[in-house]
Amino acid sequence: MKTIKGMKFETLINEIDIATRVKEMVKKIAEDSKGKEIFVIGILKGSFVFLSDLLRLFYVHNIHPSLDFITVESYGSGKISSGKLKMLRDITTDIENKWVLIVDDILDTGRTLAFAKEYFQKKNPAYIKTCVFLDKPERRVNEFKADYVGFEIPDKFVVGYGMDYDNLFRELPYVAVILDEEK
Ligand code: PRP
Repeated sequence: MKTIKGMKFETLINEIDIATRVKEMVKKIAEDSKGKEIFVIGILKGSFVFLSDLLRLFYVHNIHPSLDFITVESYGSGKISSGKLKMLRDITTDIENKWVLIVDDILDTGRTLAFAKEYFQKKNPAYIKTCVFLDKPERRVNEFKADYVGFEIPDKFVVGYGMDYDNLFRELPYVAVILDEEK
């Protein structure tokens, strides 16, 4: 257990297990995309750590993708999300006939990735695949399934490896659960 900024963290997935699993994922992605022109789309902000590990392993497999990022935002009034999403930041390059890989840190309700996949499907890519580091299947509100999943986890609030609590703790090199707050 570790205490940072008065909060207690328990490791859920350690750095060694992350590195091992990410390597396996890249091996599979490399096999599936062999010989294709690859375009990677990261969903900000949470995906950036996972994506940077993926990218550097792509290099090892002689994969040299194009890369861009999007920001998806939910809209509606009040504190409770309406579940409706909009593209706040879009890619600026054409993805027609490309092998597109959308990357996110976590698949939760499934709304973000379902929205992003449908949005980019309309731009006529040759293939569109989705890749998430974590999957919380218990939280799903739709039928969405990602093509590549790092780890399935229970419905617990997690931080680290890009994921935040109040925009903090994204820098933790492992995935942790917040136990409680110290007085
Ligand atoms: C998180 C995460 C995914 C999304 C998944 O983003 O990074 O993009 O939620 O949730 P869903 O499956 O329920 O749609 P968040 O809105 O926390 O923004 P952030 O990535 O900037 O932290």
